[in-house]
Amino acid sequence: MNIRQKISIFVISAILVSISVLGYVLIAQGQKSQKQRSIGERFHYETSLTWRGVIGDMFRLMPEKPAQYKTYPGAKLVKLPGPKYRGMTVEDAIKKRRSVRNYSPKTLSISQLSQLLFAAQGITGKMYGQPLRTTPSAGALYPFEVYLVVNNVQGLSQGIYHYAVRHHELELVQAGDFSSQITDAGLKQGMLGESDVTFVLAAIFDRVRSKYGERGFRYVYMEAGHISQNIYLQAVSLGLGSVGVGAFLDEKVNKLIGIDGHKEAAVYLHAVGTL
Ligand SMILES: Cc1cc2nc3c(=O)[nH]c(=O)nc-3n(C[C@H](O)[C@H](O)[C@H](O)COP(=O)(O)O)c2cc1C
Repeated sequence: MNIRQKISIFVISAILVSISVLGYVLIAQGQKSQKQRSIGERFHYETSLTWRGVIGDMFRLMPEKPAQYKTYPGAKLVKLPGPKYRGMTVEDAIKKRRSVRNYSPKTLSISQLSQLLFAAQGITGKMYGQPLRTTPSAGALYPFEVYLVVNNVQGLSQGIYHYAVRHHELELVQAGDFSSQITDAGLKQGMLGESDVTFVLAAIFDRVRSKYGERGFRYVYMEAGHISQNIYLQAVSLGLGSVGVGAFLDEKVNKLIGIDGHKEAAVYLHAVGTL
């Protein structure tokens, strides 16, 4: 072997070693940065859509879709008055909307409550026989169940209620004064116990996961914002005050309304009161 061949072999070996070292460093860094991601970053990253993921999802076994409507057989029912279509312009409501945390001692009327519930999840149309609601929903899968912690509503005893969307009525889940429990569960935010009613927006994740897999979690959180915004704007139009509440102790809220916190969990609260 002459000197030129020896130099060539040395250079090629050096290049190969460099590539191997670089590859190792990059892979190690990649693994490290994966590990270094916070839980929130990982959630966002791992629910990001990629073509590979979309195609992979076609072959993945998805959870079964749970029933579209939750019911409380045997529960005391409260029929709600029908919704009315009048009020301020949407432009005015958007302009006037603020988060309001102080309420008057006046009582919320049942028709105001009915209107708020309708704005949150009422049925407004049909497509191919499938009922559609006031708020958009990925794949029209409607993962949310709406519960109320009622403190001060005309004609309604205090308690926890479930909104039966299909029939626009309430099902009594549990009677009683839960104002201090909802305040405690909401990190002692006083407006939760002082409001006339606190909406608990709870999601049955598998309704969405059954079609969209893990990406569905993101859709659920997006949808909570749609529902809350409708409540905000409807409250303004009715001359009421309201605030969306994301800071709460999940386990306590789930326990309070009687859901498992796993298959179905509270995602967002929304307190409403008179001014
Ligand atoms: C996701 C989310 C969570 C929130 N959580 C709380 C909360 O826990 N407590 C509260 O008092 N306000 C909460 N807010 C209301 C914000 O504080 C309020 O929107 C913000 O200060 C802007 O004021 P505005 O709504 O009056 O325009 C929340 C708002 C959002 C969108």
